[in-house]
Amino acid sequence: MNAPTHLDKELFSAEEIRARINIIAGNISRDYGTDDILAVSILKGSFVFTADLIRALAGHQVHPLVDFLTLSSYGPDSTSSGTVTLHHELSLPVGGHRVLLIDDILDTGLTLQTACQLLTRQGAKEVRTCVLLDKPSRRVAPITADYTGFQIENVFVVGYGLDYNNRYRHLPGLFSLQFEGTPGAT
Ligand code: PRP
Repeated sequence: MNAPTHLDKELFSAEEIRARINIIAGNISRDYGTDDILAVSILKGSFVFTADLIRALAGHQVHPLVDFLTLSSYGPDSTSSGTVTLHHELSLPVGGHRVLLIDDILDTGLTLQTACQLLTRQGAKEVRTCVLLDKPSRRVAPITADYTGFQIENVFVVGYGLDYNNRYRHLPGLFSLQFEGTPGAT
């Protein structure tokens, strides 16, 4: 993959993301009612989304326990390596919990599939999934998310927690990243 040249365009603004997350939180609240939820955030990419989602859930009277799992599938490049590596385990017991698994993007699906399998093996009563972005054209694993923010084309997205080589995570909106040699690149 060639080097990135510049941010291409803003796909979703901070305000559009905020509004969409509020709708997702409402849907989750409707489906779960007052049941206890264990929200499991897949680091690193989902830390911004998770922070906003749990506060939006609080606005809908849902107050989940929160834990983190660190998985990675991308190496120092912009395509999935196809191998999902577990870096940090959960700290809370999963047994008997209804788990809401949160990730920033569903791409090949290998990360979410691996996380679902892990949580099921650990005794979760139920695992539902919530992703901010879905790139269905890239799917390898047969998985769909229960809650999705936005469907996108096959573009490389950064910002709002998503990175390229650990950069750009701080951006408040979601942007496509332009690479050398692709149309429109300079
Ligand atoms: C990204 C993203 C998802 C995963 C999705 O993580 O945060 O977890 O890839 O890709 P997949 O559906 O093809 O598995 P990444 O491996 O880049 O690690 P990071 O979250 O630490 O940036």
